[in-house]
Amino acid sequence: MTETANPGTFDVTLRENRVFPPSRSFAEKSAYSLSDLQRLRELGARDIEGYWAEAARDLTWFQKWNRILEWQPPFSKWFVGGRINASVNCLDRHLATRPNQAALIWEGEPGECSTFTYAELHRQVENLTAGLRQLGLKAGDRVAIYMPMVPEATVAMLACARGGFTHTVVFGGFSSESLKDRINDAEAKVVITADFGWRKGGRVQLLEQVAAAASFCATLTHAVVLQREHAGQLTPQVRRSFQTRRDLSVLSSLGESKVKKVDWHELMASIDPREVSRLGRPEELDSEHPLFILYTSGTTGKPKGIVHSTGGYLVGALRSTKLVFDLKPTDVYWCTADIGWVTGHSYVVYGPLAVGATVFMYEGAPTTPENDRFWAMIERHRVSILYTAPTAIRAFMRLGDQFPQSRDLSSLRLLGTVGEPINPGAWTWYHDQIGGGRCPIVDTFWQTETGSIVISPIPAETALKPGSATRPLPGYDVEVVDRAGKLVPVGQGGYLVIRKPWPSMARTIHGDPERFKKTYFSDFENGVYFTGDGARKDADGYIWCLGRVDDVLNVAGHRLGTMEVESALVSHPKVAEAAVVGRADDIKGQGIVAFVTLKKEFSVADRDLKSVQDELRNHVVKEIGAIARPDEIRLTDGLPKTRSGKIMRRLLRELATHGKVQGDVTTLEDLNVIAALQQSSDDEG
Ligand code: PRX
Repeated sequence: MTETANPGTFDVTLRENRVFPPSRSFAEKSAYSLSDLQRLRELGARDIEGYWAEAARDLTWFQKWNRILEWQPPFSKWFVGGRINASVNCLDRHLATRPNQAALIWEGEPGECSTFTYAELHRQVENLTAGLRQLGLKAGDRVAIYMPMVPEATVAMLACARGGFTHTVVFGGFSSESLKDRINDAEAKVVITADFGWRKGGRVQLLEQVAAAASFCATLTHAVVLQREHAGQLTPQVRRSFQTRRDLSVLSSLGESKVKKVDWHELMASIDPREVSRLGRPEELDSEHPLFILYTSGTTGKPKGIVHSTGGYLVGALRSTKLVFDLKPTDVYWCTADIGWVTGHSYVVYGPLAVGATVFMYEGAPTTPENDRFWAMIERHRVSILYTAPTAIRAFMRLGDQFPQSRDLSSLRLLGTVGEPINPGAWTWYHDQIGGGRCPIVDTFWQTETGSIVISPIPAETALKPGSATRPLPGYDVEVVDRAGKLVPVGQGGYLVIRKPWPSMARTIHGDPERFKKTYFSDFENGVYFTGDGARKDADGYIWCLGRVDDVLNVAGHRLGTMEVESALVSHPKVAEAAVVGRADDIKGQGIVAFVTLKKEFSVADRDLKSVQDELRNHVVKEIGAIARPDEIRLTDGLPKTRSGKIMRRLLRELATHGKVQGDVTTLEDLNVIAALQQSSDDEG
């Protein structure tokens, strides 16, 4: 069992009794009627493979599969023998029916707007695929994408998918260290980036980070660089494409490295316009071909490269998008996640474009230039579906009602949340202030590893209970069990597991199948997948997620391993030892508290306290990125340990939260440590 798992301590005090019946207007207009949904539920319960095979028929295949599932726990293959391409499913197949429908509507933070139709997006994607092939890439090669939220980020992902280049998107907020680790682990040959992106009115210097990483990335040959001031413009490329092919100009090296720098638009223009379709043709890929690797935190210091397939992944993304968001051609759908996270993969790019929807995308911060930026954009673009994180909702709540109230939000018809539990107060505010009381809220539970939504209301069908993601979608066998894998009684806390494989499940951890098995499939027997979350089930079968039971934090909806932050801290020359725990935070869900022991020779005089704390904070930002910045750093002479030398995190969590320790400390090696830590927290007030 996971080291810190402890079913006795699940917090089951979260009670919410309100029930919101399913929306009638959804039932009337939904793409699925209530009887369709009932049939899907029955099929999913009776014949999981049959259910998913039916879902797979919604996609366009070059060649149909000959076996639905091959399951050798923990490894699965779905739609075996099938051949498919994700970009064909997101683009080509819509050209006959909706070439001039907007696929992407984009706003940059400084305020520029642009729209790409399906025909235009398709053209851009095949042009870039051709360009990437010209750089020498072949199906199976890996490409890192380190981009701001500009349309070209979507183009880059789909161009990789088209050529069969497995992409690994690295969130633009990660540091050059994190970027380097990911490029090296994935052995990426090309990185696609931009000179900078806008955030809170400032420039995020992406290219600088790439240049700092490049010298340490032996596999990297090229960096394709978009000039941010040309983002969202078809013109620099279109104008040239009316002329003839231009030679790719002499490439300079990036920084100190041997990596060749290529300008995005130069690369696009180096393809003869008459040859774009041929050179950018889609690869006919095996269903199991790895579409992407996405790194996520776990309980060790090293992030895991979660590998997703093409066929099965798309089936999960498409089916969940249809069921949960009920997308229609008339919708303007906005998922606020960055493409650096799995939500940006499945619900900004692959799911909605596979449906043929209109996706709105925004580059920057929610409050730039004014606190009403989100609501102004919803008004301006008539956004009908908004999918965001509870952290954002809580932050907006705190800013005040006047900002949403000053805008016309009547275009909204559905709201969604993801990434962390939503507290009833935030749910109610979202429902009333943003949804005008008329929009259902889909609270969607899933993970990087699940690839697509697992537990969520279906708005036409499901009664909502604020704070619960409600029931598993059809095709998922989700349960709450005890340590032995037995179902726990109604209302009692237990472990959230998925007992049967599903198409969009992670296939492995890149380069480390053993770790894949150990992390997800060793706590329970018979191929049961453990989410790492605690949960309880109520009398109606609704699931209430209680948060992680391992050493993984959820900070503002982003997953961070405590060990990862600890490794960053101990890599600082002054640090002897560090322990990191989470502490409840009103806005971010969880904040980071670090307990740090300095090496003897560096013991700090009180007057230096602040500067050492700042130095350590900045060091973590440099090592990982700003999302890992500790909220508090406590310097201590020792850490509480068991007699066998394990750090007692439970005590540290109590200290971080309450400033004192109440529980049992009899196994503690040195009681003086706790006394000293309590004393120091009293001193700090
Ligand atoms: O603890 C759960 C929480 O986020 C974790 C997954 O994080 P990540 O892989 O980064 O993916 C986030 C976006 C899919 C889960 O193990 N989580 C996710 N959604 C919810 C949630 N907790 C409660 N309610 C949710 N709706």
